[in-house]
Amino acid sequence: MSPTQILEIEDIEKHFGGLAALDGVNAHVESGKLTAIIGANGAGKTTLFNVITGILPPSAGRVKFLGQDITNKPVHEISKLGLARTLQIKSVFNGMTVRENLWIAAQSRDGVFKPFQRASASSRANQVADQLCEELGLTQFANQEAANLSYGDIALLEIGIALATEPKLLLLDEPICGMGPAETEQTVEKIRNLAKRIDIVIIEHDIEVVFEVSDEVIVMAQGKVLARGTPAEISTNAEVRTAYLGDDDDA
Ligand SMILES: Nc1ncnc2c1ncn2[C@@H]1O[C@H](COP(=O)(O)OP(=O)(O)OP(=O)(O)O)[C@@H](O)[C@H]1O
Ligand SMILES: [Mg+2]
Repeated sequence: MSPTQILEIEDIEKHFGGLAALDGVNAHVESGKLTAIIGANGAGKTTLFNVITGILPPSAGRVKFLGQDITNKPVHEISKLGLARTLQIKSVFNGMTVRENLWIAAQSRDGVFKPFQRASASSRANQVADQLCEELGLTQFANQEAANLSYGDIALLEIGIALATEPKLLLLDEPICGMGPAETEQTVEKIRNLAKRIDIVIIEHDIEVVFEVSDEVIVMAQGKVLARGTPAEISTNAEVRTAYLGDDDDA
């Protein structure tokens, strides 16, 4: 265990009735590296995030975060330890401004949302909201309703909401899904910048983005880890090419 393993996943199983969505997953995330999870639809990627973050209890196995066993801990406790995620389906408060969305997320970090507490007590949340607007390039939209944002900026706001809890590890579920090339490029750049100060695991289908952005790639297939390695190792792995990348030069 030489590089710090911020997340350890040991023999995780998750069954839905007769379906083994996760069928003995062993994986780890090293601090300081941007880790990508790839795999076909239904491979179990989102389910793995759900188990890690406490949304779903695993049928078997353990999850450790910063060396601490977090298996079966409630979502808010795991969040408090410094683990945050975004959802595959975008979810922000549409009727609120960008700033309000971030402010509420920052306020709720301590578990209880206190909308009527004294203004001075919420100055930390104000600061966090402003910093996140700045970092994510959303300052110009700070006072606009989230409903009016472009798709790419909604994705950034979602990342901001997750960051407002000041996590140590951030899990992103297909953050660029549905974006055009320009938006993709901008968002990828921001994710890269974020990865300098926070550990990130990204689920992503776009293999070019994955190879560009990540240091480590975990390939999942049918509820298992098929392979793990650097982008260079994964792109030349024969098993991965056959099972996932579709080794067909004529396509
Ligand atoms: N709550 C649930 N109840 C029953 N089956 C589920 C549930 N969640 C996921 N599944 C099933 O578990 C399997 C893995 O689903 P999961 O969403 O984890 O895949 P994924 O790798 O994220 O796929 P995608 O790339 O399409 O997002 C699928 O067969 C899915 O239908
Ligand atoms: Mg998914």
